[in-house]
Amino acid sequence: MSGRLRSSPAWTGAAIAAGVLASATALAGRLDLPLILIGLAAVLLGGWLGGRDRDAPAPRPAAAAPRHAVAEALLAHVPDPVILVDRRTLVVEANPAARALLPALHYARPLSFALRDPEVLDGIEAVLSSGMPRRVALSTRIPLERTFEVQIGALPMPDGSGVSALLFLRDLTSARRLEAMRVDFVANASHELRTPLATLIGFIETLQGPAREDAAARERFLEIMRVQALRMTRLIDDLLSLSRIELREHVAPTAVVDLGALARQMVDAQGPPAEARGATIRFEDGHGPYRVPGDADELVRVIENLIENAVKYGGGRIGVGLAREDDPRHGRRIVLSVTDDGPGIPPEHIPRLTERFYRVDVASSRARGGTGLGLAIVKHSLNRHRGRLTIESVVGQGTIVRVSLPEYGAVAPMQPLADQAGPA
Ligand SMILES: Nc1ncnc2c1ncn2[C@@H]1O[C@H](COP(=O)(O)OP(=O)(O)OP(=O)(O)O)[C@@H](O)[C@H]1O
Ligand SMILES: [Mg+2]
Repeated sequence: MSGRLRSSPAWTGAAIAAGVLASATALAGRLDLPLILIGLAAVLLGGWLGGRDRDAPAPRPAAAAPRHAVAEALLAHVPDPVILVDRRTLVVEANPAARALLPALHYARPLSFALRDPEVLDGIEAVLSSGMPRRVALSTRIPLERTFEVQIGALPMPDGSGVSALLFLRDLTSARRLEAMRVDFVANASHELRTPLATLIGFIETLQGPAREDAAARERFLEIMRVQALRMTRLIDDLLSLSRIELREHVAPTAVVDLGALARQMVDAQGPPAEARGATIRFEDGHGPYRVPGDADELVRVIENLIENAVKYGGGRIGVGLAREDDPRHGRRIVLSVTDDGPGIPPEHIPRLTERFYRVDVASSRARGGTGLGLAIVKHSLNRHRGRLTIESVVGQGTIVRVSLPEYGAVAPMQPLADQAGPA
């Protein structure tokens, strides 16, 4: 161990590694393969080297150094913070992950100087006095909000100096975030379905009761019921296609499609309904073909949603264009842009538009038949196509949405999948 934390005797590292193994399995009740391998390796190496030393005629003081180095290197590879404190809760050892999390951690100083959480400190006291393992929660706010599960175990020290406590911190931040997203998702989906269902039930009861004999009212109500039923169908279709796309997200498309031809097809299909809303769509097809590796159905839905959004939320003049772009990092790419001269999107909303059910104005989106899933579907389709989505908007002037995809045949280095605008 380097820096502020000084090295301690050779057995400590191996003991911690063995302790990590013991607490990870005994406390968590689940098996973590890399951890077990590291722990086992430390135990075996420690035992082997120790045995070798015993056979040696005279113990040399320097013999402990390589053993300590191996144990330290093993601990350094444990990705979660691991801390060992003695019976006075003075820090004996800490791996680099622990030092990164708690920069104020110092060897031979009380752990409470670096970690003031009373639950953890009480937990250590309880483990030291009872010898029974414990599990407590720890939340940090600085520099980031993170949540850990701290597993505390008692570790009898091989030199007979008593019992120490081993802290193993498991980062639950991303698991908690995923769980929160799942809960939100179920709540949002149920809410979106409940609203049209309540309308349907209301009208059915009216038709069974007061409006039973009113032919004109019946016609009107049946039309409203049809619209609400279509809305539920659309929501379910969108949810299903989102989960289908998510399932295939890691499977790269094998076909080759002309993005220009797909865009023209969508402009032709969306032109008449746009005109009915008072908007015109201009198509600038440039110099095609614009061939990209892609799934035609998915890319059609991407273009459809972007044009539909421009028509629903944008202004009267919509432009759809295609271009080539040489990106030094990602190779040659095809860029499809959809521009509108509408009211624009305030900047604070832009990073969140690809979240499921996120809408700038829920009421106006619902009134236009929107479910708020369109851009989430776009984002997942683009992930699968190694594409990128960028949204630029100036309030009062309009919005430009760009989709860029690697051109077929261009030598494009691999790029990270998550290179996208916001979460979904
Ligand atoms: N061109 C645009 N101009 C202004 N706002 C936009 C534009 N495109 C999208 N938005 C905003 O982004 C929100 C999310 O769009 P998204 O396509 O995900 O959902 P939606 O269009 O409301 O529903 P769906 O696509 O399921 O019909 C919209 O509700 C709208 O508020
Ligand atoms: Mg949409």
